[in-house]
Amino acid sequence: MTKTQQVRLAKRPSGKIDADTWSLTTEELPAITAGQILVKIDYISLDPAMRGWLNDVRSYVPPVGIGEVMRSLDIATVVESTHPDFAVGDTVSGTFGVTEYAISDGRNVQRVDLGVAAGPTWLSTLGMPGMTAYFGLLEVGKLRAGDTVVVSAAAGAVGSVAGQIAKAKGATVIGIAGGEEKCRVLTEELGFDAAIDYRNEDVLRRLREVAPDGIDVYFDNVGGDILDAALANLRRGARVVICGAISAYNADKLPPGPSRYMSLLVFRASMTGFVVFDYADRYGEAISQMSEWLAGGRIKSMEHIVEGGIPRFAETLDMLFTGANTGKLVLAL
Ligand SMILES: NC(=O)c1ccc[n+]([C@@H]2O[C@H](COP(=O)([O-])OP(=O)(O)OC[C@H]3O[C@@H](n4cnc5c(N)ncnc54)[C@H](OP(=O)(O)O)[C@@H]3O)[C@@H](O)[C@H]2O)c1
Repeated sequence: MTKTQQVRLAKRPSGKIDADTWSLTTEELPAITAGQILVKIDYISLDPAMRGWLNDVRSYVPPVGIGEVMRSLDIATVVESTHPDFAVGDTVSGTFGVTEYAISDGRNVQRVDLGVAAGPTWLSTLGMPGMTAYFGLLEVGKLRAGDTVVVSAAAGAVGSVAGQIAKAKGATVIGIAGGEEKCRVLTEELGFDAAIDYRNEDVLRRLREVAPDGIDVYFDNVGGDILDAALANLRRGARVVICGAISAYNADKLPPGPSRYMSLLVFRASMTGFVVFDYADRYGEAISQMSEWLAGGRIKSMEHIVEGGIPRFAETLDMLFTGANTGKLVLAL
């Protein structure tokens, strides 16, 4: 019998997640049966999507149920196995949840190679956020060399990779992020051509300065006023990639729609949403390209690792909404 501590959904939040949202529980897991694995979680991925999974609405995955262990993507070590495809000691990725240990039948569990990259990078550039950046930019954004690309939440997990892929593909890249330090990281460490500090600068005016001929691809992670500023500065034939809208995730009533959407007509532009999981059968292609770029130093993987395990889940998740993370936010157990 293995004892495990978990975070469960106690109550659906309205607006901001608060202390009543979660309960910290401990339980004994049963012994594994034939064809199962017991994994010990090493790293938990903190994702803005977690906020959406708490709402009882129709979405691309069902909401987390009241009383259920909170859903999360994890990197884990196999500690017991009766499954033919997994051996004790394997490092794996899977949706095991916010828990110390989990039992799985191996479905949707992948072995990861720590020789290629460390565990947290498999939740970051070589994991779901990296896949989102890759397919969002190249397939949905139809990036072309020479394009002017603008990325919001650019110092975050998806944004930092999207901007670097765009650079690797020969685009001019402008990042939008909160604060001077994040903007410094974008231009001095990640090779962005320019950065706009949306907390302290007028985004619309600065976009006109740094992208005087307009934007070809706007990779939107935030929605709201920043989306409007980008819409106001499109170039003919622009592609707006709706990756996310974190500025509205904690809103308790629906925010107003984009007021500049007629720019899509004027500039013959498109605005397309996507869900990364639709590209799951092509992850191998993206992982092999990104591993090559990582090894060659063309892109850097940034992870923001918080130590402290399960009891620190709630405060760590909140960092995504205050902007306290730079790069992929990961909880280490
Ligand atoms: N479509 C898909 O399949 C898919 C897959 C993965 C992620 N996503 C979306 O991609 C976006 C980025 O996710 P991520 O995992 O890479 O998170 P992240 O960017 O690492 O973290 C979230 C960042 O959002 C910024 N932010 C928070 N509140 C904001 C606000 N009100 N206005 C503007 N910026 C705000 C903060 O940075 P600042 O300090 O710069 O404000 C924060 O660091 C999210 O919208 C997420 O839902 C979509």
